[in-house]
Amino acid sequence: MSLLLNSSLTGASSACLLHREKCRRRGRGHVHGVTCRQGGNDDRREAARQQRSRLLLDRRDMLLGGLGGLYGVTAGPKVLAEPIMPPDLSKCHDANAPALDNHCCPPYSGSDTILEYDFPATPLRVRRPAHLVKDDQEYMDKYKEAVRRMKNLPAEHPWNYYQQANIHCQYCNDAYYQQNTDDVPVQVHFSWIFLPWHRYYLHFYERILGKLIDDDTFTIPFWNWDTKDGMTFPAIFQDAASPLYDPKRDQRHVKDGAILDLKYAYTENTASDSEIIRENLCFIRKTFKHSLSLAELFMGDPVRAGEKEIQEANGQLEVIHNAAHMWVGEPGGYKENMGDFSTAARDSVFFCHHSNVDRMWDIYRNLRGNSVEFKDKDWLDSTFLFHDENEQLVKIQDCLDPTKLRYTFEQVPLPWLGNINCQKTAETKSKSTAELSLKRVGEFGTTPKALDASNPLRVIVARPKKNRKKKEKQEKVEVLQIKDIKVTTNETARFDVYVAVPYGDLAGPDYGEFAGSFVRLAHRKKGSDGTEEQGPKKKGKLKLGITALLEDIDAEDADKLVVTLVLRTGSVTVGGVSIKLLQTDTPAVI
Ligand code: C2O
Repeated sequence: MSLLLNSSLTGASSACLLHREKCRRRGRGHVHGVTCRQGGNDDRREAARQQRSRLLLDRRDMLLGGLGGLYGVTAGPKVLAEPIMPPDLSKCHDANAPALDNHCCPPYSGSDTILEYDFPATPLRVRRPAHLVKDDQEYMDKYKEAVRRMKNLPAEHPWNYYQQANIHCQYCNDAYYQQNTDDVPVQVHFSWIFLPWHRYYLHFYERILGKLIDDDTFTIPFWNWDTKDGMTFPAIFQDAASPLYDPKRDQRHVKDGAILDLKYAYTENTASDSEIIRENLCFIRKTFKHSLSLAELFMGDPVRAGEKEIQEANGQLEVIHNAAHMWVGEPGGYKENMGDFSTAARDSVFFCHHSNVDRMWDIYRNLRGNSVEFKDKDWLDSTFLFHDENEQLVKIQDCLDPTKLRYTFEQVPLPWLGNINCQKTAETKSKSTAELSLKRVGEFGTTPKALDASNPLRVIVARPKKNRKKKEKQEKVEVLQIKDIKVTTNETARFDVYVAVPYGDLAGPDYGEFAGSFVRLAHRKKGSDGTEEQGPKKKGKLKLGITALLEDIDAEDADKLVVTLVLRTGSVTVGGVSIKLLQTDTPAVI
């Protein structure tokens, strides 16, 4: 189905198109959304706005095929198809972004011409590791020059560095509501749109940088934090005289070669460097291994247009990625810049970090034989709007293979995929039960429980089936689910999850094997009187694949497991812990 947001619907928009064509021929600097609006009056702008939202709605109806009038975003139970659609840019409002006084709306609103994106026809561009480009003077000169030019653009220019950064605030800190709702934000984290939205965001950012230096081969680097040499803060962002520098960082981490802790929770990891490196590699390895057979475990749960009361579940890749945000941002205040989503993209390292997140997704995809992660139309048809030289619509289905966007990643070793020992030293295994101080552990029950940092929550959970055959495991993955997770939204929350085999109904002192984490960065809000309010409250859930984990700890024949939740930071209440078998979407294993 071709996307017919055609501009010939009104004279006004074709005039605008023509105008833009002229702008284009004249060269850079004439940006459609800005240029075309010059000289417009309010009526014309309002008419354009209305036409534009009609176009988006028409498009949604096209996607919904014959559904037409049946479709309703406010309908209670799931309707048939509801891909996420872009918001009406003219309806941007204050965000939950206290560090920016809640203001991150673009100076431009939607124009009357929205185009389908023409994918670039450039040579295949190769993104390289940040720690390796450091000595490539020619590349570094270009990169710095491009960012310098971006910073020097007029403040209201859509390509301006801070306008680009604000896009992240708009889509994370609730500056837009979804069309036809007045309280459901467009949110690009905590769900299956996290990876595709950020892929496009980086892509447009990278293309703009390339255009600013007239270099079609330009790529941003990736922070190769999945290898030993890449696990420190990339040196290319450290020079205070460079446009890539940002003073708002945790100086303890970004200066002296400190090792990034992928389980960071605002306390310093006191283990040796080599142990932190091993822990990080194991965390990445486990994340891939535990979630390879079911994409939502890695990428996040579905979200569909208009859905309000869902329990958001981010995938474990997003969880890993959050630690780097926390570790780079300032330790106090609003954790600027990287530690708060509203300001994160003001630090150039954001794009470098996300370039590696994007790479992790690409590796995941390759390991799964490049199978489509979600065949659900609501994912494939989810549509985003980016403002490059045009306002352009892009769909998730078009970004699954980065080479369609004409970029790829330099192939570097993947130490976490190789032969690495991630088993805990099983000292408790050799002890007899009499030597261990065993404690009785109960079931979760029905009342929600607040996690307590000094007293981890330990519960016994029954498994749906033990001793499953290989084939059964290929068809269904065993998933540990923690539901009704409530956090105090003005602080960052993190808890880690461990799984062990009980001794009857008793648990040993060892929490067992690390299974994964829940992380939610602070989502704060400044009230109109300047004091801080609670950000929006939403329940979340956490889903962790444990089929491979149970094999690793020889727990196949256990009826029940001891699950331990260790609060690392923030205030968290959880509503239940259970184990389910979910249909896999590929039989891939590593
Ligand atoms: Cu939009 Cu790293 O987050």
